[in-house]
Amino acid sequence: MGCFAFRSGGKSGSSSSTSSRPQQHPRPGARTPPAKSAPASTSSSSSSSGAGAGAQSNTKAAAASAPAAASSATPTRTIQELSEERGAQRLRVFDLDELGSATNGFSRALKLGEGGFGSVYRAFFRSAAGARVVLAVKRLNQRSLQGHKQWLAEVQFLGVLEHPNLVKLIGYCAVDSEASKHRLLVYEFMPNKSLDDHLFNRAHPPLSWRLRLQIMLGAARGLDYLHEGVPEVQVIYRDFKASNVLLDAEFKPKLSDFGLAREGPTEGKTHVSTAVVGTHGYAAPDYIETGHLTVKSDVWSFGVVLYEILTGRRSLERSRPAEEQKLLGWVRQHPPDGAGFRAIMDPRLGGRYPLAAAREVARLADRCLGKNPKERPAMRDVVEVLERVVQMEPTTTTADKRGGDGRLPAKR
Ligand SMILES: Nc1ncnc2c1ncn2[C@@H]1O[C@H](COP(=O)(O)OP(=O)(O)OP(=O)(O)O)[C@@H](O)[C@H]1O
Ligand SMILES: [Mg+2]
Repeated sequence: MGCFAFRSGGKSGSSSSTSSRPQQHPRPGARTPPAKSAPASTSSSSSSSGAGAGAQSNTKAAAASAPAAASSATPTRTIQELSEERGAQRLRVFDLDELGSATNGFSRALKLGEGGFGSVYRAFFRSAAGARVVLAVKRLNQRSLQGHKQWLAEVQFLGVLEHPNLVKLIGYCAVDSEASKHRLLVYEFMPNKSLDDHLFNRAHPPLSWRLRLQIMLGAARGLDYLHEGVPEVQVIYRDFKASNVLLDAEFKPKLSDFGLAREGPTEGKTHVSTAVVGTHGYAAPDYIETGHLTVKSDVWSFGVVLYEILTGRRSLERSRPAEEQKLLGWVRQHPPDGAGFRAIMDPRLGGRYPLAAAREVARLADRCLGKNPKERPAMRDVVEVLERVVQMEPTTTTADKRGGDGRLPAKR
């Protein structure tokens, strides 16, 4: 489940901070470089040029006259600059001792989960008025070389970004002593775990069709905000997958984990060249092959998760028969307009979904999974399609109205 590097490359951007404020460069007093020449502040390599409008395989010859990037927004600032301006005011610096006592010494009993970069704990605090406040604390693995880099990316991006479909970062903690280094992040608490838990863990009752769509619509809005909603900077999320879609008390989705996020290409560039990192089964093949990263890499990953919500299967399931292990290969045998399409639908839906809407979602997923990144839809278009699909009425033949609005009967 964890993230990993498909292959390594590029300069190392990681450095250790000795203060409690997040710093990219260890040199005291190092100045923020100007936006145009700055290396991406949270990444391992710099931008490179390419052809216009997302033509990733084309040459530099076209770059000079080509319009900028796939996004409508031309980035004018770096995330590092924005973070220094805004993040410092928004985020609270926590004490390691305070986080230790809030998690009862990082007690196993309070552990919410563990990912590739660290463990997450439920943590209890007191508000100024004395009320109990529950938050989530992620402690990054001390042994991970990537730890500081992921932590810094998260602090910088989430210190600046704000949207109802992104998890809120409350603050952070960084302590370096001779004996050890500590990097922690403090988030709003998301009581309903992740989309991954609800889709794939049988301990949870199945998610209804409507809820699946609403979760994907919210997630699409979050990605659209990253791609086109911040005037000064474009953000490529790079790690869209079901386990990074957390659910609040009303099952509203919020994207979490910005450790792999990258700034989009600067003016005149179509992509960012980077070491390939991500999660198996979700990363776009063109990105894996070339290391060229665009917002359309996120669109591919979104397409993969669309098929996960349709089928209730993970993108990669080694326990299945050979021809069914790779979700995308398997669903290709049952195209959205074919007679056999229904065979791919999640049995846990119990037939309670409008078939026309399911076909529409599969068609959308196929567009997101287009071989040529240029032909994949923008997240803005994905949002529009999903808004329309959410309105589609359940059919009487497959829909059981009891399950139409929320969770399936097991919870009722
Ligand atoms: N803000 C939060 N509130 C509540 N639970 C959370 C929060 N953030 C994370 N979790 C829980 O902790 C688990 C681990 O999260 P984490 O992001 O470290 O790993 P992951 O997403 O499962 O894997 P990966 O490292 O590949 O991203 C999540 O699945 C979720 O259940
Ligand atoms: Mg995660």
